[in-house]
Amino acid sequence: MITLGIETSCDETSCAILSCLGSETASQPPQRSINRECKVLSNVVSSSLFRHQEFGGVVPEIASRHCLEQIEFVFHEALKQAGIQPKDINLIAVTEGPGLIGSLFVGMGFAKALSYQLGIPLVGVNHLEAHFSANFIGHSIPEKYVGLLVSGGHTSLTYCENGKYELLGETEDDAVGEAYDKVAKMMGFDYPGGPMIDQLAAKGNARAISFKKPKQEKPFDFSFSGIKTAVLYAVKDMKTGQRKPDAPSNEDLAASFQSSVVRWIVEKALAVCELKSVQHLVVGGGVSANSHLRSELQQKMQEKGIQVWIPPVSLTGDNAAMIACRGRELFELGQTASLRLTAKPNLRIAGT
Ligand code: KG4
Ligand code: ZN
Repeated sequence: MITLGIETSCDETSCAILSCLGSETASQPPQRSINRECKVLSNVVSSSLFRHQEFGGVVPEIASRHCLEQIEFVFHEALKQAGIQPKDINLIAVTEGPGLIGSLFVGMGFAKALSYQLGIPLVGVNHLEAHFSANFIGHSIPEKYVGLLVSGGHTSLTYCENGKYELLGETEDDAVGEAYDKVAKMMGFDYPGGPMIDQLAAKGNARAISFKKPKQEKPFDFSFSGIKTAVLYAVKDMKTGQRKPDAPSNEDLAASFQSSVVRWIVEKALAVCELKSVQHLVVGGGVSANSHLRSELQQKMQEKGIQVWIPPVSLTGDNAAMIACRGRELFELGQTASLRLTAKPNLRIAGT
């Protein structure tokens, strides 16, 4: 069975072809092993990042125009790289939200037109749930797991059992990726600054500056606005030369910021896994590319016998392979969409 995934939720335009063994109709009851025989044949991503950099963040109008200009080319490139024709596609999976309305509409319109033209089923995919599915391509889905989402727009901890989600915690202010990007901007780096902080941190002293851990009413919620402000003061001090000769460097600041943020995330993720007595932690979102987060999660969870699922770095950012995978899972559960399907910019993880 061949699934075409289409992702246009923000600044990326992506089409992917996923090939899975099995029938072209939903199986009853659905199998948790459905993804085991799946393979990504192509995953083409066209990013408009270079067009936003001078503005220090994503400009929605520029993002949606880029999607519109790129979608047809990206679709044909995905087919070419997979070595298939449009008639070989059995299912179309498209991001329905959350995201920027203009960008979402581009993928949605393209997917609906293609579904109508080819006479094949369409399924709408929640982008946030798809970040978790990036882990499941070629694997059986664990029966229950804790999902840790760390992206540019969202930070949350959810509990998933047999496909049903329960929200246990989320950020009260900035998403973790947003905090990385803002801190990088304060230090004078281009958007998105997460990867730059990651690189700098590797050369710095993580003990140079200590940041106060925020206190939340709900124990599994996050807050990154306090540390962001503390970094702002540290940067100002460094610039105005008020610090002593042994003042921290940019590298020290990046390392101190990163080690605090990662420590808080890992502590909460571990506490939730223990609370729910689960053996699987499934991580998704752009920040899961972070080298320190990856190594700390692996080490701390391994000590407690918890298996950590983190996507390969190539599938941590926004991509259509994860959309295709999630779409096929939903199709197996009996879900399809009509041509009335529309973009939902504020969509949340199901049931949360
Ligand atoms: O999931 P994503 O591609 O887009 C959203 O759906 O939000 O996440 C993008 C975010 C950006 O904030 C970016 O700075 C961050 O992921 N990011 C990183 C790293 N790579 C990407 N943050 C920290 N370390 C990284 N290596
Ligand atoms: Zn994303």
